[in-house]
Amino acid sequence: MSNASLDWSNLGFGYHETEKRYVSNYKDGKWSEGELTSDPTVTLNECAGVFQYAQTIFEGLKAYRTENGKIVIFRPDLNGERLENSAKRLEMPVYPKDKFVEAVKSVVKANADMVPPYGSGATLYIRPYMFATGPVIGVKPSTEYQFRIFTTPVGPYFKGGAKPITIKVSDFDRAAPHGTGNIKAGLNYAMSLHAIVTAHAEGFDENMYLDPGTRTYVEETGGANFLFVTKDGTVVTPKSDSILPSITRRSLMYVAEHYLGLKVEHRPVRFDEVKDFAECGLCGTAAVISPVGKINDHGKEICFPSGMEEMGPVTKKLYETLTGIQMGHIEAPEGWIYEVC
Ligand code: PLP
Ligand code: COI
Repeated sequence: MSNASLDWSNLGFGYHETEKRYVSNYKDGKWSEGELTSDPTVTLNECAGVFQYAQTIFEGLKAYRTENGKIVIFRPDLNGERLENSAKRLEMPVYPKDKFVEAVKSVVKANADMVPPYGSGATLYIRPYMFATGPVIGVKPSTEYQFRIFTTPVGPYFKGGAKPITIKVSDFDRAAPHGTGNIKAGLNYAMSLHAIVTAHAEGFDENMYLDPGTRTYVEETGGANFLFVTKDGTVVTPKSDSILPSITRRSLMYVAEHYLGLKVEHRPVRFDEVKDFAECGLCGTAAVISPVGKINDHGKEICFPSGMEEMGPVTKKLYETLTGIQMGHIEAPEGWIYEVC
């Protein structure tokens, strides 16, 4: 697809095929020299481990066009590190994070004309992933894998962009205690599909999952961490072993403390505290920061003082500072921004 047919400012969060993707195969205990290819299809044996026992993991990050026309990526080393952790947990071979970063840079460079213009509100989403290609029929890890990276230009994850969304407290769990909630495994997302289809059918934008063990603490949504702001301006983010350690959340906590001078707390958050917060948002690569206006707990509504029209004031400052760093008009902390070209 050429970029001429895309209306950058009206892109949703969808798949648009781009010219090049990166592929490396794992066989006989080692990774092949990776290469860029134009072929978007994957042909696998019917018994491949990914089909039988869901041995698949992924990452998500973005490339940004800065104010001065450069293309940069945001903290890809942390995505590489998280993919390493996901691989270890699912008994897959590690794709080394240094090679990961180089591969991400090469695929972005090869699709440079698909990085949306500065100011369009769109970015180039990068999806690295790894899956078991070798045949397995007894329950065990495969011996062969493929690592790929494709890119697709995207707009906001939620349709309204910066408009506050409404979420429901889910009766389903996305992760188990001591399970795989803290890694980026495809199986966690399969777990959340029925819950998100149900939430959408009931008119909600997303689910709030509670801790699967006691259902008294806030966990996260299907694709983002929570961020709350107290009435006295402290930024609070939930901590749990079954939450995915969001790179956006970790970055925002740093920004809150070191750029905005706010107090930050990363701690278990009881669900019964939520009604006392002044602001609520979802944070993640896809979500950036999406403000939450209302939470529905089985018919009982929690309405945040920030309302349904705009982002709360602290959430907005966080949003502007983070995106300012990503788009190059606010100086980034050392090592956060990787220039591609
Ligand atoms: N939580 C879940 C379940 C996710 O899928 C994501 C997306 O990657 C996040 C949180 C946010 O993580 P990050 O900020 O690293 O994109
Ligand atoms: C991301 O933010 O990169 C994710 O992987 C979340 C997914 C729901 C799109």
